[in-house]
Amino acid sequence: MPDHFGEGVAAGYDEAAADMFDPAVVDPVVDFLEELAGGGAALELGIGTGRIALPLTRRGVRVHGIDLSEAMVSRLRAKPGGDNLEVAIGDFATAHVPDPFSLVYLVFNTIGNLTTQDDQVACFQNAAAHLEPGGCFVIEVGVPGLQRLPPGETVRAFELTPTKLGFDEYDVVSQKLVSHHYRIQDGKLEALSIPFRYVWPSELDLMARLAGMRLRERWSGWKREPFTSESTKHVSVWEKPR
Ligand SMILES: C[S@@+](CC[C@H](N)C(=O)[O-])C[C@H]1O[C@@H](n2cnc3c(N)ncnc32)[C@H](O)[C@@H]1O
Repeated sequence: MPDHFGEGVAAGYDEAAADMFDPAVVDPVVDFLEELAGGGAALELGIGTGRIALPLTRRGVRVHGIDLSEAMVSRLRAKPGGDNLEVAIGDFATAHVPDPFSLVYLVFNTIGNLTTQDDQVACFQNAAAHLEPGGCFVIEVGVPGLQRLPPGETVRAFELTPTKLGFDEYDVVSQKLVSHHYRIQDGKLEALSIPFRYVWPSELDLMARLAGMRLRERWSGWKREPFTSESTKHVSVWEKPR
């Protein structure tokens, strides 16, 4: 499993994703997850530098994590409270941690970092295996933006500022997408390309069903905004039956 979040990315991750660390973004996520954990323990798949796990821990939820990247996890460890979290280094499609959880969650489009359908299916099975009966698996991910891709074209810009450019490059046959990021930092151009597999909400529901879970809620945001044909992302909750 390739690690796309090595030292070079990890060193600048919090700064590059500064908008996503804003309390206006983080607090609704933590409110939602705290309520769903219902006093039990939570497991974050792709815990990264602790953007969500650390504030959730401060609410009194015991959070464990799995992540491939030693470099990302070392940034988490260096933050206040980061040493109190148990983090396993491994692939969240297959790695196992011992405790049962009332909540497993995977945010910020990270399901797409698994670039094959088999790996995404395995991830649902792994999430279900970590859940107690009645526990929930939560995913936050974009709705594939194919309605914006004219026939025959493969590239859409998702960011265009004087210092930052971002393009998604689609392959509609394989459901692969590469996000290309370009940033001008201190007069130097930095480039980063990360591969994803885009996936439909209905396809995720089928993966959940294969793993013995069923859809409980689907929203377009963490404040439970309705999910509609205009929604560009979704927050979905699947439940493991009691
Ligand atoms: C976009 S970052 C999100 C980090 C954090 N959840 C957040 O919201 O800021 C994706 C994280 O998932 C991790 N990751 C990606 N694919 C993974 C895999 N197959 N197994 C474990 N971790 C993975 C990366 O190392 C990275 O830390």
